[in-house]
Amino acid sequence: MNLKIFCALVLQLLLGVQVCLSLYKMFLEFDRYEIEYSVIGDFSKVRVRKFNRTTPVINGSYDLAVDLDDNYEIGITCSRSELGNNQYNLFPMKLTTMPVCDFINAYGPDYQWIWENKSNFIYVGPEGVCPWPKGTYWVKDLALDASLLPPVIPNGYYRCYLDVNLAATKELVHHQAYYSRIYRELTKN
Ligand SMILES: *[C@@H]1O[C@H](CO)[C@@H](O)[C@H](O)[C@H]1NC(C)=O
Ligand SMILES: *[C@@H]1O[C@H](CO)[C@@H](O)[C@H](O)[C@H]1NC(C)=O
Ligand SMILES: *[C@@H]1O[C@H](CO)[C@@H](O)[C@H](O)[C@H]1NC(C)=O
Repeated sequence: MNLKIFCALVLQLLLGVQVCLSLYKMFLEFDRYEIEYSVIGDFSKVRVRKFNRTTPVINGSYDLAVDLDDNYEIGITCSRSELGNNQYNLFPMKLTTMPVCDFINAYGPDYQWIWENKSNFIYVGPEGVCPWPKGTYWVKDLALDASLLPPVIPNGYYRCYLDVNLAATKELVHHQAYYSRIYRELTKN
């Protein structure tokens, strides 16, 4: 049995086998997001569009109605559906709820190359940003791809919730769901 066929079998049975994963390219297919609830802005003008056949992008603008500072907390929780049948199980990959400014300053510097030149988001320098000011933000042709993710994430359908709540009362002020699929294909040779 050649290595690729062996790996294809192994990958179907268990995950995280490095020698096998290196033969695969991981793809992130971003499907859609839904603002299920928000009292901190108008996000109705942001859409996921097909940039081309294979690449969806986020496009549009939104109005953030409040200055986001440490009176707000933000967290991300993901669950996974192996088959895409809406049977989601909590997936142990989450960004623990933390004050908004801590969140921005923890992740902004490492990840802002993704939206650099594709949005008017504020650049997060070494001194940090706080608060994240209210205003109109636009995003143009922002593609999300698998290079953003740790390489051992299993295939499947993912639903991630981004929640914002008031730090003092824990009252939910923004609840947003992202749906995407992770799959792998064998590399060419
Ligand atoms: C995204 O919006 C811009 C205008 O803001 C438009 O030029 C572009 O074609 C849109 N992209 C897609 C994939 O619809
Ligand atoms: C779609 O666009 C992306 C981003 O520019 C590009 O990397 C990819 O090769 C394109 N795919 C096709 C099938 O044209
Ligand atoms: C953004 O644009 C600037 C100026 O064109 C360029 O130097 C930089 O590399 C771009 N950043 C990314 C992440 O593409």
